[in-house]
Amino acid sequence: MELYQIIIFASGSGSNAENIINYFSKKTMKINWLILTNNSNAGVIERAKRLKINYKAFSKKDLYKNSFLKYIVSLNPTLIILAGFLLKFPDTIINNFSKSIINIHPALLPKYGGKGMYGMHVHRTIIENKESVSGITIHYVTSNYDEGPIIFQKEVSIDSSESANDLAKKIHDLEMKYFPVVVEKILIP
Ligand code: GAR
Repeated sequence: MELYQIIIFASGSGSNAENIINYFSKKTMKINWLILTNNSNAGVIERAKRLKINYKAFSKKDLYKNSFLKYIVSLNPTLIILAGFLLKFPDTIINNFSKSIINIHPALLPKYGGKGMYGMHVHRTIIENKESVSGITIHYVTSNYDEGPIIFQKEVSIDSSESANDLAKKIHDLEMKYFPVVVEKILIP
């Protein structure tokens, strides 16, 4: 049976990381997971410990070093998943693993993407702009922030009375429902 090596990069709570790992724990596929985080206080570390998943924290400086690229290459990943990873992903790694790195973004790209557009900032801006629709985008990672080829999008409508927190909850629900399924489709087309 094929052994999949999947690396998840996360900077925050890690609810997507946990949800993806749980989804695949119910499948027969053999997967070696590794969680990498740039934030040694990130919630994702507690989740990794609880799930008994290997994890490692690294500094922002380490991320852009050649030794970090070598480390990632040595792991021979099938897929690299950015799930709430907030640093610019290194071009060197992107160039080595093109079409094997995916990211989830909590809006309908190309709108509301780019630097500074993450998490609640995105939802607040969308509510302030009185948008009537938002959603999630899963896309390949290229060297231009949030501009890689789109794999999947799902829309959700926004009522005029909704707060940014309401929208965040809706987006979270979409992420929980669709992200693991999209990962599975990438692994087994
Ligand atoms: C998710 O909503 C994800 O879409 C977003 O960060 C959150 C991470 O939550 N990503 C971005 O904003 C990327 N620009 P999690 O840590 O609970 O999975």
